Amino acid sequence: MIILGIHEGHDAGAAIVKDGEILSAVNEERLVRKKLFMGVPRNSIIECMRIAKLSPDKIDKVAIAGILGTMAPPGWENISFKKKIYQFICNYTPFPKTHFFINLQRALFRSFRNKSVEKYIRSIGIDAPIEYVDHHKCHAASTYYTSGKEECLIITSDGSGDGVSSSVYIGKDNELRLLKEFPTFHSIAYYYGYITQIAGFKMFRHEGKIMGLAAYGNPQKVYKIFEKCFSFKDGRPVNNLGVIGETAINFLKRSLRNVSMEDYSAALQKRTEDVISKYIDYYVKEKKIYDVAVAGGLFANVKVNQRVLELPAVNSLFIHPHMGDGGIAVGAALAVSAAEMANEGNGLKPYKLKNVYFGPSYSNDEILEAIENNKLKGEYIRDIERYVAEKLEDGKVVGYFDGRMEYGPRALGNRSIFADPTDTSINKWLNKRLRRTEFMPFAPSILDTAAPDYYENYISGRYPAQFMTITFNTTKEAQKARAVIHVDNTTRPHVVSKQSNPRYYKILENYRELTGLPLFVNTSFNIHEEPIVCSPDSAIKSYLNGIVDVLVMGNWVLER
Ligand SMILES: [Fe+2]
Repeated sequence: MIILGIHEGHDAGAAIVKDGEILSAVNEERLVRKKLFMGVPRNSIIECMRIAKLSPDKIDKVAIAGILGTMAPPGWENISFKKKIYQFICNYTPFPKTHFFINLQRALFRSFRNKSVEKYIRSIGIDAPIEYVDHHKCHAASTYYTSGKEECLIITSDGSGDGVSSSVYIGKDNELRLLKEFPTFHSIAYYYGYITQIAGFKMFRHEGKIMGLAAYGNPQKVYKIFEKCFSFKDGRPVNNLGVIGETAINFLKRSLRNVSMEDYSAALQKRTEDVISKYIDYYVKEKKIYDVAVAGGLFANVKVNQRVLELPAVNSLFIHPHMGDGGIAVGAALAVSAAEMANEGNGLKPYKLKNVYFGPSYSNDEILEAIENNKLKGEYIRDIERYVAEKLEDGKVVGYFDGRMEYGPRALGNRSIFADPTDTSINKWLNKRLRRTEFMPFAPSILDTAAPDYYENYISGRYPAQFMTITFNTTKEAQKARAVIHVDNTTRPHVVSKQSNPRYYKILENYRELTGLPLFVNTSFNIHEEPIVCSPDSAIKSYLNGIVDVLVMGNWVLER
């Protein structure tokens, strides 16, 4: 059974899932070169079918993420009239506050659902039946079926999707059972968004900057203000302030007028960690299920994830690698795939992802063609793994492009920039070169064999650590590579196994042979506000812009 998953909202994308296995998954931003693209992911749909070598008539079913479609988050500009009505209702009526009204809201707004995806897929010859899947169920399916745990507690949390901001599911016997869902009105992630906006960054895009800044502040100074805003009481997250959107933003602006950005970021981060930890601890104990899987934009917060994993009651934690809305095309396809498989037999058994290289790849010939089209002269290197390690030892910044593009927000070694992990000044000069304002240090890729010596509590977090979705406290051994450690002594590693990426593993081994270090800086191959590079052409463009000293694509090398 072949399912095409589609998401047309924030970070739109498509995916092909065959009998529960992800054959391809691409987000539209990478193809149209517009960060977090919203709209019908026309190119991703075509690209996913091309990668999976499928014609439109081979699709058995289409799974579209979201019953209501994309609604406007508060504070969002340039929204349509219909969405403004929705926003007004969210902000000023008591309706969306209770569970009963979530369903009423769904019934009221169902007819608002944009039909442009349907029109598009019919226009390209896909006749398969269409199923719409609830937004949070997509998040839940994305993480349950890739958790590798037959039984686990699933928590989703984001700004809003289909009138809901968080849900609790139990994954058992290859099925998802909804326990609770909490309305948008009680969204914790919205508070993170408000503060991101107040700090002068973009809501739902730059939350990571606030998380990075938090380590520099004193959380106690204004913790009480956030205590007033949101909490976890009687088994549910609660918006204590009783307002959302502009009204909440104005309250925070007034309350934080004379507070430094670092201090309010620290307080917000601590409050978020405290409330989410309490929330997960509550359901883990109540349901006596100690393996947890999470998804939703809030879990892009790697520090929250660390706190959850450190809870004494939590045995293991999995974060779906594409935890935000960019991952719900896969989630929709997995949910429908699982239901179809359950109808036919035992259903879809949760499995572990070997890697997340679900995007397009380019052969050495195609790379050479791109180099020549750009009127450049490349050099073919046979032992590319040694070559890259030598360049890094030499202090060069290497742009590395190889194999299939990663799925999700993190570059995991196929569209990455590598650099020396010991140079503590790197955060200044490399961020400047990449035109980024980051408050988190760069993250490392590290050999799996070395990770237990470098990170505390690593064993219980080793699965999510393959996807760079969690931080760890660092050991004394790790201090050798100070450039990848934050001021609070944590790091967000990408742990590489031979099985997940043999070529990349070999580069790391070569680097260790040359320097004694089993890790180096791995940051995404893009400049600020641009999506990660996808094709050789976009990698060459970045090289010509001067962001890397050496560009390695397959076995071809460009060096200035
Ligand atoms: Fe979401």
